[in-house]
Amino acid sequence: MVNSKIDNLSEKSEALVNLYKELEKNYEKLPLATKVDDIVPGEGPADAKILFIGEAPGYYETVERRPFVGRSGKFFRKTLTEEAGIQGSEVYISNIVKVRPPENRDPTPEEIVAFKPVLDREIEIINPKLIITLGRFSMAKFLMNVKISQVHGRLHKVRWPVTKITNENLDKGVPESEANDKQVKEERDLFVLPMYHPAAGLRSGKMRESFIADFKKIPKIIEWIENQKETESFKSTVEEYLF
Ligand code: URA
Repeated sequence: MVNSKIDNLSEKSEALVNLYKELEKNYEKLPLATKVDDIVPGEGPADAKILFIGEAPGYYETVERRPFVGRSGKFFRKTLTEEAGIQGSEVYISNIVKVRPPENRDPTPEEIVAFKPVLDREIEIINPKLIITLGRFSMAKFLMNVKISQVHGRLHKVRWPVTKITNENLDKGVPESEANDKQVKEERDLFVLPMYHPAAGLRSGKMRESFIADFKKIPKIIEWIENQKETESFKSTVEEYLF
């Protein structure tokens, strides 16, 4: 059996390019999109250690076709650099929904489901050491029945399904998208750190402090993750670590 995980940087980059080419080709089937340019792709190195997941692009993101470049995006990128010592160019930044909802309203469950395969594939290709969710919508992808006010800034280990492709399919050249019935689902651990959305951080002095305090923890959390042994087994589906 061969894991569909890709290890080599150029293959990962190519896989991401192909993923978005495919999405653009099929833009008419997507909710919210009226033209190819409505799609705001994820941005960053394909082998990034950290994957940030926001909610959906806004006006400026759609104009530039880049995630987090508007007011809250500038606050997010500044906090990342100044408080965590990490440049925006070192991380991969994406969204739950890749097209701007009208008037920046909350994404609907149907819209989230429609873009799920793309985000799942981004996670699989990048295989980041840490996923940081920004806001409650991306948090809900990994953590059920929790309040962001209670779990923000706390690291979670989440069991996550990994798509494995059988050698039989590979030998026959069956494309991954057509091999669903023959795919074997396995699970692996993902580290997820829920954070407030930067727009919430801009709302009040207290929220800003909280947002900044969480970002200051990132280097220590990454160091802690890198020191974990891959073989370590865990008792519960979601295990919480105190940071
Ligand atoms: N807010 C988000 O959630 N994503 C963006 O890309 C911009 C603002």
